[in-house]
Amino acid sequence: MSLKTVATLRALAVEYAPRSYAPYSTNQVACIALFSDGAYVPGVRVENASFPLLISATLNALTTGLAEGRKDFVAFVSSRPITHVERDLIEPFLTNASVDHDVARTEQPLPAVGEILDPVHHFPDLDHRTGVGEARKAAAAAWVPESNFPVGCILGSPERGYVRGVNVEHPDWNLGLCAERNAVGTAVTFGLDEATRMYISCLKDPTGTPCGACRQVLVEFESTLELVMDRAGHPPEETTPTMLLPYSFDGGALAK
Ligand code: THU
Repeated sequence: MSLKTVATLRALAVEYAPRSYAPYSTNQVACIALFSDGAYVPGVRVENASFPLLISATLNALTTGLAEGRKDFVAFVSSRPITHVERDLIEPFLTNASVDHDVARTEQPLPAVGEILDPVHHFPDLDHRTGVGEARKAAAAAWVPESNFPVGCILGSPERGYVRGVNVEHPDWNLGLCAERNAVGTAVTFGLDEATRMYISCLKDPTGTPCGACRQVLVEFESTLELVMDRAGHPPEETTPTMLLPYSFDGGALAK
């Protein structure tokens, strides 16, 4: 079963790779995360004009699964060889991981590949109150062993649906991801590139706003996005990526 499973996941990775956002390298990559019951979720490479803000395909698949409350990863199969950084990234989430070229997996036999985990949630009539409620629900899946500071968000549009984002932390802090960028990665993989709104909930900070790195990624993803911020003890406040990051680095001199 395992051999067939890996072959199927490899074919899915190749199929999803063209959904990458890779205008700077043209290097399209996808990674498929497999769960213990055979469900799987893809993640694609999402670049930014500020290259160190790259969301790798593996990080994208991992954080999409976690935002959906799944922690039972059993394999990651990528459309290109798995790097040392990616191995370190998934190590806390994959028991006894062994890595061979494009596959990181547990030693146990792998299940047959089943259904895709669809992270797109449909809320056609969302208003600010219910949107904030959904962002709070999302925050319950935040993986925050380092900070105990959960952040949750949803990103999308009334017409096409919304994906969730949560912050995901790693013992090596560099390898974690904020909730907002988690949602952007998932939105790119699932083709929600015409997103109009993001609801963000950060209930432990009365003045919380998206961090600088998230502002940079949000402004490139959709500069006019309506951002609705929900904080401890305050009514939601609205802004946009452009308002949060005027005079941003746009990479105009970089795109291939
Ligand atoms: N965090 C977010 O998820 N979004 C932000 O915009 C601010 C910071 C997370 C990252 C980390 O898990 C924790 O909050 C503390 O920085």
